[in-house]
This record gives sequence, structure tokens and C-alpha cells, in this order.
Amino acid sequence: MFYCDAHIHLLPHMDNGPRTIDESLSMLEILQRVRTRKLILTSHFDMRSETCAHFISRRKESFTKLRNQAGPLIRHMKMLLSAEVYLTQGVSRLPLLERLCISHTRCLPLELPLAGFDRHMMAEFAHLLHKRKIIPIISATERYFLMYSQRDYETLSGLPNVVYQFTANALQNKDILYEAIRLLHTGHSVILGSNAHGYDHRMPVDEKTEEFITKSCGASVFQAFSLKTASYFKDAFSC
Ligand SMILES: [Fe+2]
Repeated sequence: MFYCDAHIHLLPHMDNGPRTIDESLSMLEILQRVRTRKLILTSHFDMRSETCAHFISRRKESFTKLRNQAGPLIRHMKMLLSAEVYLTQGVSRLPLLERLCISHTRCLPLELPLAGFDRHMMAEFAHLLHKRKIIPIISATERYFLMYSQRDYETLSGLPNVVYQFTANALQNKDILYEAIRLLHTGHSVILGSNAHGYDHRMPVDEKTEEFITKSCGASVFQAFSLKTASYFKDAFSC
């Protein structure tokens, strides 16, 4: 069972996720059906096109609308607000950045440039970790595992005190599955999310998707990752 989705674009009109509130509600119907009841809402944020304050205000409006319309669909659900923050030069110094961390935590989901890992990015990580005391979460780690040079990926996967989030669906790829397990076994925190963006494409983890994933990696492995994700945010969800 997929207990906790730590990466989902559920809020309407925020990014390239659901285009209407009805699409968000359809996503919630799937989640309720499969009893995924813990969600971390990670709408895209890019400081090159928007201020933190503007994003926070839009997010509040979108979340309020969704809550008002969702009714019984969210009765048993717990949702934490956050963002998927694009890592660009200067992001670690943004005022209000703490407000984009996952509610009740100092964990910040990050989307990295696909071109490769460079010294500017290292500086942003250092500032986040040591000056802001923010724990970076690498969103959809498999993207960098597949696209970075080996040297860049080794740098990224060796960062201290960083959380690695993998896309649940991607665990069907054996190389990605083994990498997630390797990170876990070498003392890193590894969590799962769907990176769902809608109802008819890149949808939440439903019964069929879960069946495919468990066929590829084994039910016990999938369940262990899922439980670890829920457990990592246990305190935040209890607030
Ligand atoms: Fe995402």
C-alpha cells in the first residue's frame, strides 16, 4: 500500500498540474479509493518568475478552494503544504523560503537543473544546510541518476544530510530500484512520491500502477519504502 505520497501536484491552477478543480477532485477520488491518506503538496516554484510571497498567496487560495470543494473526499486525509523549488543561483538566500518547506518541518523539496551538478549548486546546498538549517529533499532523484554524468551524480548522491525522493513508478526500472536501495543501505534517507500531475496523464498511484510496481520490485520492498516515507514525516502529519 502507498501510505504517503511525498511529491504530488494536486493543487489546481498552480503549475503544470491539474488545470481545473474537477481534475484535482478526480485525483483525490483515486487517492481515497486506494487509501493513500498522507499527501505532501509540491506545486512548482521558480524564483525567476515569481516571488515567494506571491506563490504563498496563490497556494493559500488554491488550497482553500480545494478544501472547500473536496468535502468527504479529504475527510480521512492529511495534507502538508510545500513546494518543489527550482534550484537556481540565489535561491538559498530567498526571504520566506522556510514557508516553502514542508509544513511543520525544515525540509525543502528541490528540483535541480538537468544539465549537471556545478559549484554554484554546491554553494546553494551549503547555504541551505549550514546557514538556513534547511534539509534539502532531492525531488525525483532518478532523473539525475539517469541524466547526470557519473561524476556529477556521485557528488549529488554523496551530499550529507540530504533526503533523496524517488518516483514510485520509476522503481519498475531495476537500475533505479537498486540505486534507491543502495542509498538506503548506505545510511541516506530515501522517500517515495508519485510526482502525479493530473488525472489522465501522470496520475496518482492507483491499483494498477501499484500492481506493476510491486510485480517489479516486490511487495515487501515497495511497502518498506512507503512505510519509511510515512515514518519520516510522522511528526509533521501529527501536528
Ligand atoms: Fe514534481
